[in-house]
Amino acid sequence: MQEERKILYSAVQPTNNLTIGNYIGAVSNWVNLQSQYDCVFAIANMHAITVRQNPAELRKNTLSLLALYIACGIDPQKCVLYLQSHVPAHAELAWVLNTFTYVGEMERMTQFKDKSAKHADNINMGLMDYPVLMAADILLYRADVVPVGVDQRQHLEITRDIAVRFNNIYSPTFTVPEGLYMKVGAKIGDLLEPSKKMSKSAENANGSVFLSDDRDTIIRKFRRAVTDSEACVKYDPENKPGVSNLLSIYSVFSGQSIEECERRFEGKGYGDFKLAVGEVVADKLAPIQTEQAKLLADKAYLDGVLKDGAERAARRANRTLSKVYKKIGFYQL
Ligand code: TYM
Repeated sequence: MQEERKILYSAVQPTNNLTIGNYIGAVSNWVNLQSQYDCVFAIANMHAITVRQNPAELRKNTLSLLALYIACGIDPQKCVLYLQSHVPAHAELAWVLNTFTYVGEMERMTQFKDKSAKHADNINMGLMDYPVLMAADILLYRADVVPVGVDQRQHLEITRDIAVRFNNIYSPTFTVPEGLYMKVGAKIGDLLEPSKKMSKSAENANGSVFLSDDRDTIIRKFRRAVTDSEACVKYDPENKPGVSNLLSIYSVFSGQSIEECERRFEGKGYGDFKLAVGEVVADKLAPIQTEQAKLLADKAYLDGVLKDGAERAARRANRTLSKVYKKIGFYQL
């Protein structure tokens, strides 16, 4: 049964605090998809070090993200849940794929350009190679689908290009994955500058709602969210980016369609609307935060999940890696 289902792969970096953008664009979707697909979810700590990290914090954020995955409803029995650095095949395949990737392609990546500008004192090789490592992640598990936010679209495209390139030179080896982007919520905007994506590392923390924010903070941040002067709750991302962003958030957190949400707020002012968005988010996050804290108190359990996940992930990844090594002519014993 397990073998017949399509394979789904995704990951989040254990950096800073996760935002509701990460929750909406990634983790909350995964929960809905886990019964439909054979799911593999990683904590991408090897990606995280492309920007300088504090080691103690990286360690802490790793367990915190694992606890969050589980608290959000990802079931470690149903899915493979593991830490990227526990499976050496990622670095090994990335090295091989590097030889099928052109420097010019990497230089053109939007995220590389953005991060280079932001971290001008540390434009390291890893930052540039980031998409190749991501391709290795995805291709190792023969993923059919990769649910991500639209900010990862370019990385998915290059993964597909690398897979096709390799398959054409040798013979079909890699599954060419499809990106899975949600209709609502694939790009949650910053509350103060809705045209920019909500980010873990935003300059103004008031524009991002973190999954660790308490109720008062959440409500205060939504109260200050930028809207427009029309006083009409309608979904129109082009002309009403602030209101449309809040509607997307409300829609995902309440489980109602955009149309249902529009109807609900017909004739209501922005003050009421923003309060309702804050409340629905706070109501949903409170039990997740409680559960996360409970899980974090049981380190033995979390270590057990990671150990089991690493074994299951490595078994799958090594099958692909050994196939690749054979095809490219690495002598095997
Ligand atoms: P990361 O850690 O930056 O973000 C994790 C996920 O959250 C999505 N996301 C958003 N979605 C909607 N609105 C937003 N404002 C928003 N901000 C972030 C991201 O699109 C992503 O899906 N490179 C990846 C991690 C990664 C990965 C992979 C993903 C490593 N290997 C293999 C998929 C497959 C990243 O940095 O995500």
